[in-house]
Amino acid sequence: MPLRFPEGFLWGMATSAYQIEGSPAADGKGPSIWDSFCKVPGNIRNGESGDVAIDHYHRFQSDVALLRDLGVEAYRFSISWPRIFPDGDGEPNPAGLDFYIRLVDCLLEAGIRPFATLYHWDLPQSLQDRFGGWQRRETAEAFARYAGYVARKLSDRVRDIITINEFRSFVDMGYRGVEMAVGGRTVRISLAPGLALEPKALAQVRHLALLGHGLAVQAIRAEGRAETRVGPAENVEVAVPVSATPANIAAARAAMRYLNGPFLTPMLEGAYDSAWLAAQGENTPEVQPGDMEAIGAPLDFVGLNIYRPAIYVMAEESARGWQPVRINPSHPKMDSAWHLLDPEALYWGPRLVHDLWQPEIIYLTENGCAAKDALGAEGEVHDTDRLMYLRAAMTALHRAIADGAPVAGNFFWSAFDNFEWTDGLQRRFGLVHVDYETQVRTPKLSAHWFCESARTNSIA
Ligand code: FCB
Repeated sequence: MPLRFPEGFLWGMATSAYQIEGSPAADGKGPSIWDSFCKVPGNIRNGESGDVAIDHYHRFQSDVALLRDLGVEAYRFSISWPRIFPDGDGEPNPAGLDFYIRLVDCLLEAGIRPFATLYHWDLPQSLQDRFGGWQRRETAEAFARYAGYVARKLSDRVRDIITINEFRSFVDMGYRGVEMAVGGRTVRISLAPGLALEPKALAQVRHLALLGHGLAVQAIRAEGRAETRVGPAENVEVAVPVSATPANIAAARAAMRYLNGPFLTPMLEGAYDSAWLAAQGENTPEVQPGDMEAIGAPLDFVGLNIYRPAIYVMAEESARGWQPVRINPSHPKMDSAWHLLDPEALYWGPRLVHDLWQPEIIYLTENGCAAKDALGAEGEVHDTDRLMYLRAAMTALHRAIADGAPVAGNFFWSAFDNFEWTDGLQRRFGLVHVDYETQVRTPKLSAHWFCESARTNSIA
């Protein structure tokens, strides 16, 4: 029996501006921190960049036609802030806006519902130069002005707006860098702007990114059409209970609330969790009057990016009630160094978010995996590992919905192979293969599976 999803469930795919568009200086666009970061030797594998990427800026019409042919019902893309405001604020650039109007019109004509993300990490370089990026309130305030402007200009066409993508990634990896064990050695992974701040300063960046989100929600409400729906897309830290006993489930719930202390918990509760704050010692953010009200502004949906569990937990007889369980070195992985394999994350993530905060709507704003995809002799791409992953992930998500999590749609990362940040172009996440020499697009086996699944609203 195929597992059927609820009526109206959205089968979507996702991308982001810097990862696919190319054309970094076209039509008056200002530079972003990613344009700068990629120029520094050693930052990106093989010295690659998003300068061309998949040239979506020039090919969006045929790309949208391909999405339509694959039966994509909703498409999550991001707007490049420096295309709209080349200096981050000040005078808008009409040609930049025009690109997104044309893209959205094309999607609507193809019957695809657009979800626009306002910040997928490509901060205008000017705001980095003037304010140190998200280290100062001026950037959060400029973000809100940009969000309000986009809502005013686009909310007649785009109903669903995502404020910020993955707070934890761009803040913690961009302003401090994280250490990760890769192939037996520890490497430091950074994203733009590639800073190494002290913990106290990092805490302030986290707070100001949250503030940017909150002020943007308020600006979108003030300037967008009344029917506009808004929410964030956070890579929620998912705690998976080692076994589904009531005690371990309660432990996982407590762990999730605590581990999401920097971002999701304050966004959904309008306050920092007191135990989390206490554990930060001196390194707490400076909070001004009105900040928490903005940060906790009511949302229409919560977007979750889920690829893997953050942690396995079991119950513990202590005040906090949970303890982490060490992950075995032999635990299976997908192709990215960080990608621990466990589809259960797609069950426990939405399920525990629902238990903890009861959002009205949850979207899986990202889920997917990289694989070593190559064209076969007949031009086919048989990504059997991705297929295994996606089917298992969707089965777990189906179970979360059956248990009451209000998941209204899923966006696979990614529609196309693209520029995977410091991993460069060869880390392929697409359901559609891209030959970077010729820019030829080839749907992989997983794209055909997607097509059949979307058509039948079930796991094919
Ligand atoms: C997420 C990012 C996205 C992509 C995937 C693989 O963390 O939001 O841009 O890089 O990972």
